[in-house]
Amino acid sequence: MKRIKIFDTTLRDGEQAPGCSMNLHEKIEVAKQLERLGVDIIEAGFAIASPGDFESISMVAKELKNNVVCSLARALEKDIDAAWGSVRHAVSPRIHTFIATSPVHMQYKLKMTPEQVLERTAAMVAYAKKYCPDVEFSAEDAGRSDLEFLSKVCSTAIKAGATVINIPDTVGYLNPAEITERLTYLMNHIDNVETVDVSVHNHNDLGLATANSLAAILVGATQVECTINGLGERAGNAALEEIVMGLITRKQLYQAECGIDTRQIYRTSRLVSTVTGMQIPANKAVVGQNAFAHESGIHQHGVMAERSTYEIMTPQSIGIPQNKMILGKHSGKHALEERLVALGYQLTEEQLTETFEAFKKLADKKKTIMDRDLETLVEHNEGKIDEGYRLDSFIINSGNTIDATASVKISLDGKVLSGVSLGSGPIDAGFTAINSIIGEDFELEDYSLHSITEGEDALGEAVVKLSYKGKAVTGRGVSTDIVEASLRAYLNGVNRALRDFVNVKEDIDDRV
Ligand code: KIV
Ligand code: ZN
Repeated sequence: MKRIKIFDTTLRDGEQAPGCSMNLHEKIEVAKQLERLGVDIIEAGFAIASPGDFESISMVAKELKNNVVCSLARALEKDIDAAWGSVRHAVSPRIHTFIATSPVHMQYKLKMTPEQVLERTAAMVAYAKKYCPDVEFSAEDAGRSDLEFLSKVCSTAIKAGATVINIPDTVGYLNPAEITERLTYLMNHIDNVETVDVSVHNHNDLGLATANSLAAILVGATQVECTINGLGERAGNAALEEIVMGLITRKQLYQAECGIDTRQIYRTSRLVSTVTGMQIPANKAVVGQNAFAHESGIHQHGVMAERSTYEIMTPQSIGIPQNKMILGKHSGKHALEERLVALGYQLTEEQLTETFEAFKKLADKKKTIMDRDLETLVEHNEGKIDEGYRLDSFIINSGNTIDATASVKISLDGKVLSGVSLGSGPIDAGFTAINSIIGEDFELEDYSLHSITEGEDALGEAVVKLSYKGKAVTGRGVSTDIVEASLRAYLNGVNRALRDFVNVKEDIDDRV
């Protein structure tokens, strides 16, 4: 069996998805969960992009003990200096440097000749190597690059000291037959290719990112780059959970294994969805809500008689909790802790206390608390933004014969601020009241509400997409009261928007 290295770039390429930026606290939470999941390499960010990126990569590098931690860098000295500065304290640091090799990128973006690209590759890999023994080189837009030239660039990078050669399909252009053919060619033409890891990094523009990654494994790739829930630029990257479950479910076919603890997949997927606000489509492979649901009578009957008739993986294998009644209003902190441990959470004393407070509030409103409720409480606690505006109280009147009116109080640094507004409905009135208090115009682009569990007293989760000064952000909130969940989601989005605006990234014109 070959051992495939799983390179997770949720914190870098994933975070580049519009409206998906994460704060420092959230990035560390996600990184720790990726460590529990067992990924081999975590790409924690793009150090030169902003001081915030640099700081979060450094924190992740210091925090994690079991993974390689890497930072992206263009093939420029200042990028490589920043990348090294951010990962140097990691147990296993890596610098990941890249330059584009396709005709269109070299001519229009880089304005460099192929010879100049070759020279820069040699010089910058060698420059990175002086800092760090582990250097990954990526040929951006390799999917549309000339194969002879690509082989030369990769051979040059290996000669200069690269330990990993990555072949990205940056624009998601290839299909599995083509990637098979191209990778086979490269394996036969790159000098000393057997001395390095060969990696692929596929984007999903035509929906083929996972298929292309698995095809690449069949012809010799030893590292795959991917993200949780397939998050990433445009249509995203190859989804980690799909590649891993593909490898495991079809082990005989791929003759390969990886170090992922699949029982952590579901939790990781939920956490990333919560902190980025990017909802998982119900029909998403492996982690979607319907991935293990059998609706038709024929299927249900088949599964009851023999699971494998319609199920090629089990929900337990990816760690989906059984939705059973577990705790009630009289349960104590110890019982809560026990249940959380059984669900696989390791909370600090402070997190446990906060979760217990949230649990008690919920238990006052909801008779029975299910595993899914508990998960939601923990996830909203883990990924929460502490700083900023908080909901204090609200009164909203609405009906089908009157205009809705909202009186909302929010607090900032202990100071309570209030606002009143009319609206075309209770949610609109509440959101407008918040805008009037803050004195800024946040535009509501999208709004959705869904219940976490069944029943009249179910927890509702609201998700809002706001635009502020041309930037999109997502906010989430939960409560048994849908108006409260909505106001909390709105404030969560507002806090993110204000924070992101302060932490604007340096304008990098050829940012990937
Ligand atoms: O898509 C891409 O080409 C990238 C590289 C920088 C690896 O993200
Ligand atoms: Zn990419």
